[in-house]
Amino acid sequence: MGRTTVSVIGLGAMGMTIAELFSKSGARVTVYNRSAGKAAPLLDKGAALAPDLATAFAASDTVVMCVSNDAAVKELLAAPGVAAAAAARTLIQLTTISAETARGGAAWAREHGARYLAGAIQAAPGQMGQADTPILISGDEQAWAAQRARLSTLGGGLVYLGAEPGAAATMDLATLSWVYGGMLGFLQGALIAQSEGVDVARYGSIVREISPSFGAFFQHEGGVIAAGDFAISQSPLRISVDATERLLQTARRAGLSTELPELTASLFQRALQQNLGDQEVAALIKVMVPDALRASAASKGAPA
Ligand SMILES: NC(=O)c1ccc[n+]([C@@H]2O[C@H](COP(=O)([O-])OP(=O)(O)OC[C@H]3O[C@@H](n4cnc5c(N)ncnc54)[C@H](OP(=O)(O)O)[C@@H]3O)[C@@H](O)[C@H]2O)c1
Repeated sequence: MGRTTVSVIGLGAMGMTIAELFSKSGARVTVYNRSAGKAAPLLDKGAALAPDLATAFAASDTVVMCVSNDAAVKELLAAPGVAAAAAARTLIQLTTISAETARGGAAWAREHGARYLAGAIQAAPGQMGQADTPILISGDEQAWAAQRARLSTLGGGLVYLGAEPGAAATMDLATLSWVYGGMLGFLQGALIAQSEGVDVARYGSIVREISPSFGAFFQHEGGVIAAGDFAISQSPLRISVDATERLLQTARRAGLSTELPELTASLFQRALQQNLGDQEVAALIKVMVPDALRASAASKGAPA
């Protein structure tokens, strides 16, 4: 049997790592990058350089794209000769894109006789290729079955989210929201520690220690929201009303930024006013849902 063939489009920090990992796995790798010079280190390791994008698509049964963003993806898929060269290929889109662009890619692939998967890499280039490297994948079920082993070259933490091509992008964005929310909270905590002369580096390591159990807590709260059953199961909302008020008062007293604690405390206050204090803490989401969305969910029979 011949070697498997894969083309890698985009040789930035991530695309370069992807091409190297495929190369090391024994696949015959063809690469294409807008600035061709970046391919030089890969050519030394046996990869072939395609002179243009259409040639890169034609060269392999699987094409992995990893460029900067939605705009770059759209530009590349519209390049001359690419649609024709995509027939009978599988395009695996690993650029971080919106769900809409992922769905557009799936439609493009369908139209041109190709299969399509869209993924979201949740790791830095230096963390790729590990047993637990997290990569979310969605799209064509048959393509997933066929490509799963190849994709595991890039990371063992593959999570397939189903046939809806935008699912990986949506899940990636949802987790990104959690990361940035956590980051703001972390930085506010660093200000609190500094204001009292407490070691901020130690604070960082304590956050690391407690993160797995808080991860399990959020997993539980996700289940609460999905089930729409907000009866107290772990943590009553009213406890967080007090805690977030304490964060706000501390920030005011110490002259720290009050933007984040004001927002947090006011959301919990609103929940209290709406008599959600004796529900599970995730019931806070009820005050975060815009009215229009609540009305539409109610008309679809979702729990209030
Ligand atoms: N790096 C990370 O830590 C990381 C982690 C997770 C996910 N990701 C995702 O992986 C993707 C790539 O990231 P990266 O770090 O490799 O980015 P990068 O180092 O900035 O590389 C960007 C790549 O996109 C190409 N490109 C940009 N605009 C283009 C266009 N209009 N036409 C053709 N090619 C174009 C660049 O080509 P030139 O070389 O010609 O400029 C380069 O190959 C992004 O979607 C990113 O969000 C990255």
